Order: sequence, then structure tokens, then C-alpha cells
Amino acid sequence: MFEKEQKIAEQFDPSERTVVFPGGCLDMLRNCPDGVFGLVVTSPPYNIGKEYEKRLKLDSYLAQQAEVIRECVRCLSPRGSVCWQVGNYVDDGAIIPLDTILYPIFTSLGLRMRNRIIWHFEHGLHCSKRFSGRYETIVWFTKSDEYVFDLDPVRVPQKYPGKKYFKGPNAGKYSCNPLGKNPGDLWVIPNVKSNHVEKTEHPCQFPVELIERLVLSMTKKDDWVFDPFLGSGTTVVAAVRHGRRGAGAEVVPKYVNLARERIEAELAGTLRTRPMHKPVYDPVEAGNSLTIAPWTAKTDAAQMVLLEKQRKRERYATR
Ligand SMILES: C[S@@+](CC[C@H](N)C(=O)[O-])C[C@H]1O[C@@H](n2cnc3c(N)ncnc32)[C@H](O)[C@@H]1O
Repeated sequence: MFEKEQKIAEQFDPSERTVVFPGGCLDMLRNCPDGVFGLVVTSPPYNIGKEYEKRLKLDSYLAQQAEVIRECVRCLSPRGSVCWQVGNYVDDGAIIPLDTILYPIFTSLGLRMRNRIIWHFEHGLHCSKRFSGRYETIVWFTKSDEYVFDLDPVRVPQKYPGKKYFKGPNAGKYSCNPLGKNPGDLWVIPNVKSNHVEKTEHPCQFPVELIERLVLSMTKKDDWVFDPFLGSGTTVVAAVRHGRRGAGAEVVPKYVNLARERIEAELAGTLRTRPMHKPVYDPVEAGNSLTIAPWTAKTDAAQMVLLEKQRKRERYATR
């Protein structure tokens, strides 16, 4: 298989299959031809003072983002998509959702928004002066109205697959798509924290399954998937896993090495990841003893577990 012998190039060339550019994304983009990428997907620095970013005035940050977005759009194919995954910028305790201030940059370049996907996860910082943030967004834009989109590879199981039409010409036939249902625009996918199988030293990795869903629905085999802020290489991993080409830029040398290692492991078939569609771990359901508060009397604790199970049964029964 070609993947096994595949090398990872350092410079973009359309004849390659995987590229990790060790440097700034604008330097890489300047050498990429117009219209070559099927999908651009990234999580840029949020300007919140992580180790790999210099905190800038918001205007300067937006100007920098605009320059990168403009170049990405130039390199995007006419049927291509851009997915920008962002959270909040925090200014002296006040939050500014980054997608709201980036939106005008995309639309001023003629892009059309298709979804604002809510990515919900359960772990993160515990806030004391506001509710803890447990979602971020993926804003999806296309260059034109004729864009690549295939739902079938990303459908999820139906809630009631046995449901049938009860009247009309299709009475008695199954009413749902046997391939599954549209996953919707609220995605519950665990974020990569310490006990996640994909965790590396990078502080803010994408879970591979998040990007797989975008790659599978928005590109075709052999299309280029590009990430200007590649980090630990997740975007390229998801791309090569599904027979696409993957490219990205990363400025921090230790993350360049990490990205290369992960992509090599993926090509060799040894990278461990959380599978797509795996249900989110439920500690009560799994009988995890830590779900019982030690300060609760033993009989009360057993009662609580029973109650929780009962509540769950009722919740599903009444839907
Ligand atoms: C939010 S992280 C992305 C993590 C990535 N999604 C993953 O799965 O690992 C942003 C990354 O962009 C890198 N970065 C910052 N400025 C950059 C630039 N101008 N060009 C390329 N990479 C940059 C940072 O070093 C950091 O690793």
C-alpha cells in the first residue's frame, strides 16, 4: 500500500500526499497554488496567552487572522469548505466569542456560512465567576453554493430505527434512513484531556474523531485537507486515515516533531485513537465507585445509584 512507504514532505507540492511545514503558515501559504485545498480546517491560537502565542491587542489579532484566512480562501477550491474551530477570548474576565468577531472576515471574502456547530465536551477549567465553559464552536463556510457535502459516511444511529409510517402511501414501511440520521449541529465528543487515549504534550489537541467527521463529509478521496495551525498534526492524521492528502504548518519545533511522529504512526497503522461513534463514557452506568460521595452514608449512597438508574430509565421511556 502506498501509505506504508509514504514520506512526509516539508514543502507543499501538489504531487505529495502529506506535508508538515516547519514554520509560519503565511510562509507556507505563499507557496501554495490557488484553489488547491478541498478543506481548510483549523483551531487557531485564541490570543489567550498560551505558551505558543504572544497575547496581542484584539485588533492586531483580528488583522493577523484576516491575513491567514484571506490566503486560505485564495488556496481553497471553488467547491471547498473552511472550518474554523474557536472558543472565547477573555478580556479581563469578560468573554468575547471569537466566532462572532471572525464572522465578518469570512463573509467579506464572499464565503457563505453553512453551520455553526456546537462542540460540547465535559472537561475543562472550573470557573468561579461565571459558568464553566463546556462548548466551543466550529464555523463552517463554503466558497460557493456548489460545495462538496456527503452525509452518508457520517450518519449516526437512529433513535427509533424500527419506526414505520402509519398512514399514507408508505404506510408500514420504515420511516428513517437505514444508513442512520444526520448528526445535527451539536456534537458531543470528549475533548483531549489527561486520560484521553490520544493525549500528547500538546495543550489543545483536536480529538481525531472531530476532524474525521469534517473530512468525511466535506471532501472526496485524494482531496487536500489543510491546517494552517497544525499543532500535534491531528488534521493530517484524520485526512490520511481516510485516503485524503494532508498538509499543515506549525511554528514550534517540538510540535512539528510530534506531528510528524503521529502522522508516521497513523501511516504505519499504530496510532491509538478514540473510535468515531464510541458512546461517551458514563461513570454511573459503568458502576464507577467514585460516583458515590464518600460523605454519604452507605445505604444512602446505594439508594442514590438506584435513583439515578431509575431516573435514566424514566428519561428514555418518556421520550
Ligand atoms: C490551538 S493549537 C492547534 C492544535 C491542533 N488543532 C491539534 O490538534 O494539535 C494552535 C497551534 O498553532 C501554532 N501556531 C501559532 N502561530 C502559528 C503560525 N503563525 N503558523 C503556524 N503555526 C502556528 C501553535 O504553536 C499551536 O501549536
